[in-house]
Amino acid sequence: MQLFNNQSIIITGAGSGIGKATALYFAEKGANVVVSDIHVANGNKVVAAIEAMGGKAVFVQTNVANNNEVETLVQECVHHFGRLDMMINNAGIGGDLKFFDQITDEDWNQIIAINQTGVFYCMRAALKVMKPQRKGCIVNTASVAGIGSAARMGAYAASKHAVVGMTKTAAVEYAKYGIRVNAICPTVIKTPMGDSYISSDPKITEMIKQTIPMKRFGEAKEVAKTIGWLCSEDASFITGHAIRIDGGMMA
Ligand SMILES: NC(=O)c1ccc[n+]([C@@H]2O[C@H](COP(=O)([O-])OP(=O)(O)OC[C@H]3O[C@@H](n4cnc5c(N)ncnc54)[C@H](O)[C@@H]3O)[C@@H](O)[C@H]2O)c1
Repeated sequence: MQLFNNQSIIITGAGSGIGKATALYFAEKGANVVVSDIHVANGNKVVAAIEAMGGKAVFVQTNVANNNEVETLVQECVHHFGRLDMMINNAGIGGDLKFFDQITDEDWNQIIAINQTGVFYCMRAALKVMKPQRKGCIVNTASVAGIGSAARMGAYAASKHAVVGMTKTAAVEYAKYGIRVNAICPTVIKTPMGDSYISSDPKITEMIKQTIPMKRFGEAKEVAKTIGWLCSEDASFITGHAIRIDGGMMA
């Protein structure tokens, strides 16, 4: 018997980085996985990798900033796997590094639409299914930028603080329905998004590394394992948290 046998999970942004590592992790532990991403080829590759491992997965193309697509995503999970046990709201973008006075309306609106409103749409759609089930687990991918400052990432920090606020509020509202809601707050993780910042300026990269007591960046699999723990019975009394995955950075 594997940890997540007969349980179904949706992971947004599962075509790359943290989402991909999380999809592979849950498939390895027996879950039925709905791989969701805006990027079709990457999503299909993750499904193929899961099937090659002997796991069950389907791909549903979704732009999380579009509510109709998000509602369809959740319906597709119920259609394929009968229920929705876990929802990992992970899709997100970083945006260009800019000081506040340089952020355009377009930069702001795009980041808020995907990172903040997208998580709201996903939580709302998932909660509508989980509430009558009286069971469910939601994990939202925030960031250390959701609990502290993030220089030259003002819109990103605003969106991730909102994710933490929505997480805590939903945790309190839905605890009575057997639904747990938590957020994860990673520092720089080695993914295509993380790498784009790491490689943009070696001086800044070294500076950030020095702020991390473990003196290294995180691996996507380390984030996936934390999400796995949050969704497991071992975390049955854990809700409303914003858990740092940061090698001690914010301590
Ligand atoms: N990598 C880091 O250093 C780091 C640190 C803290 C938090 N995060 C957060 O982790 C999450 C995953 O990031 P990652 O590092 O794996 O990045 P990534 O770029 O490797 O993956 C992000 C995925 O999200 C998808 N995506 C983007 N816009 C989308 C949309 N509108 N709808 C659906 N899918 C969309 C992309 O196609 C991609 O597959 C993000 O929310 C990010 O903010 C990342």
